[in-house]
Amino acid sequence: MTGPSTTRRVFLVGFMGAGKTSVGQELARRLGWRFHDLDAVIEARERSTVDAIFAASGEVGFRQVENAALLELLERDLTHDNAIVALGGGTFVQSANREALRRHGAITVLLDAPLEELERRCRNAGNVRPLTREKSGFERLFADRRDAYLLAQFRVETAGRDIAQVAQEVENILKIDAERKA
Ligand code: S3P
Repeated sequence: MTGPSTTRRVFLVGFMGAGKTSVGQELARRLGWRFHDLDAVIEARERSTVDAIFAASGEVGFRQVENAALLELLERDLTHDNAIVALGGGTFVQSANREALRRHGAITVLLDAPLEELERRCRNAGNVRPLTREKSGFERLFADRRDAYLLAQFRVETAGRDIAQVAQEVENILKIDAERKA
């Protein structure tokens, strides 16, 4: 078992459609690390769906639950094992979440893509997330979040690349980062 100081916790950051969950699962499989999807953690914890939480408590309520789930993950579940975590699209935009990640020595990686590609991926997935029901909303959100996303420690371009290629690049980054810190 690795101690807390050597435990590596990698958080995938990015907009809806960036591939955080698919890349995270692939990466965890390759590395033999645990995988957590924050939206799934929230749903299990609240015994409800993200959609239903938005409907019942609005975005403000969802952000509170999201912050609590992230803190619990950091303080309880991620203390001993190396892990990959797919954050939700808005998690890293909240400064309290960024601060908690920093405090816990998290490694953060932005999965980036141009707006058009993200829109296409979300459409193809038939995915109607609460915050992307309208095209104009999607565009505004993308622009508003850009600066916060760029605060991640590493950035990987995902446009025109498949899940395996993106996972490979993140793996390379983690290897270099580990060597640098050794
Ligand atoms: C959100 C993204 C969703 C989910 C919620 C809010 C956002 O996660 O957390 O609908 O604010 O961008 P994904 O990025 O995994 O779709």
